[in-house]
Amino acid sequence: MSDENKTPSQPDAGDGAKKMVERGVDPNLEPTLPNDAHGGHDPRFDEPTGQYTTGHSWDGIEELNTPMPRWWLGIFYATIAFSAVYMLLMPSIPLIDSYFDGILDKSDREDVSVEIAELRMERALLADRLADANLEYITGDPELFRFAMAAGKSAFGDNCATCHGAGGQGFKGYPNLNDDVWIWGGSFEDIRHTLEVGIRAAHEDTRFNLMQAFGRDGLLDRDQIRDLTEYLLAFSGRGVDPDASGRGRALFADNCASCHGADAMGDRSQGAPNLTDAEWLYGGEREDIVETLYGGRQGVMPNWHERLDPETITALAVYVHALGGGEPSAPQPSGADPQKPGMQP
Ligand code: HEC
Ligand code: HEC
Repeated sequence: MSDENKTPSQPDAGDGAKKMVERGVDPNLEPTLPNDAHGGHDPRFDEPTGQYTTGHSWDGIEELNTPMPRWWLGIFYATIAFSAVYMLLMPSIPLIDSYFDGILDKSDREDVSVEIAELRMERALLADRLADANLEYITGDPELFRFAMAAGKSAFGDNCATCHGAGGQGFKGYPNLNDDVWIWGGSFEDIRHTLEVGIRAAHEDTRFNLMQAFGRDGLLDRDQIRDLTEYLLAFSGRGVDPDASGRGRALFADNCASCHGADAMGDRSQGAPNLTDAEWLYGGEREDIVETLYGGRQGVMPNWHERLDPETITALAVYVHALGGGEPSAPQPSGADPQKPGMQP
């Protein structure tokens, strides 16, 4: 930048000036430069690049004439035209407390509300058909069945998963709804009825049966409870004392058979579980059984009659029935059949 100081104002002719121009540093030289200023001279062919110039040059830098391709410009102008037309046709320009509606007077928001209303109507029609449909009718219509399964699954997540687990797998004291072991019955009708009235719940027709607290209420003493436990463990080959188990068998006939059946296979009409299988609601270890016999168990399942509408209860019954353990609808009332087909291996 020392040159600048040396040549304050006199333009030097010839090479020196050109060099300075090339460096582009001295404003005083400007007027003397032929190609400079704004827009100066004719377009010419530029050898090194093989392009024409536009004739514009700034500080000796010339502009090459390389316009955008026509197809690109075409699209560019088309988008501008489109946006202008679109702005006129559709809701667009904001006004002070509203907006310009557009010539077509169209609104996506309204379209969506219409679509939602239509969907609701369709759903309501399906739901109506579900309300007191039987399983045969529902499975006969794939669309209705799909709807019931979807509605049942979502209602299950909202209302049942807290007690029965997200997949209906159950927890201690809350039965597994996936398997084919049923306390009150696994047909569509049985399940639906259980949901309607609940178990030991507030409904006047609730499924009800209460096992006594044999130990706490002094109906049986500790030895008797031990003998009975031994008897029940023997069903799964876990009994260790055959004498105790023999005494237990006699105690069972006197105290337990009225609900659980003479063979201890349970009775669905009374909600008394099968005690001979490997499925235990309250646990099948020695101490679990002793605890059950000492204090009884009072599992409560709420009734859904008032909380859920009939179509949701039907959908839930369809869903639970399809979880894996659903049984065919029985021609006679469930529990009346001593063979209990669903509980046999
Ligand atoms: C507050 C906990 C709780 C909630 C919530 C609950 N259940 Fe239950 N459910 C139970 C209990 C406890 C039992 C077992 C009662 C017994 O001892 O017989 C049961 C039993 C059942 C049975 C009978 C099982 C059989 O083997 O006969 C079905 C079916 C059932 N529940 C389905 C449902 C569905 C569907 C929902 C949701 C709408 C639901 N439950 C919500 C606690 C609950
Ligand atoms: C009045 C009917 C009734 C009588 C009598 C009865 N039970 Fe029960 N028992 C039930 C019911 C109902 C259940 C289910 C309780 C629940 O789910 O809350 C049950 C549950 C059980 C269970 C728990 C099963 C499991 O899967 O965890 C055992 C064990 C049992 N009973 C053994 C006995 C024995 C032993 C006797 C006789 C001393 C007996 N019961 C007498 C009705 C009865």
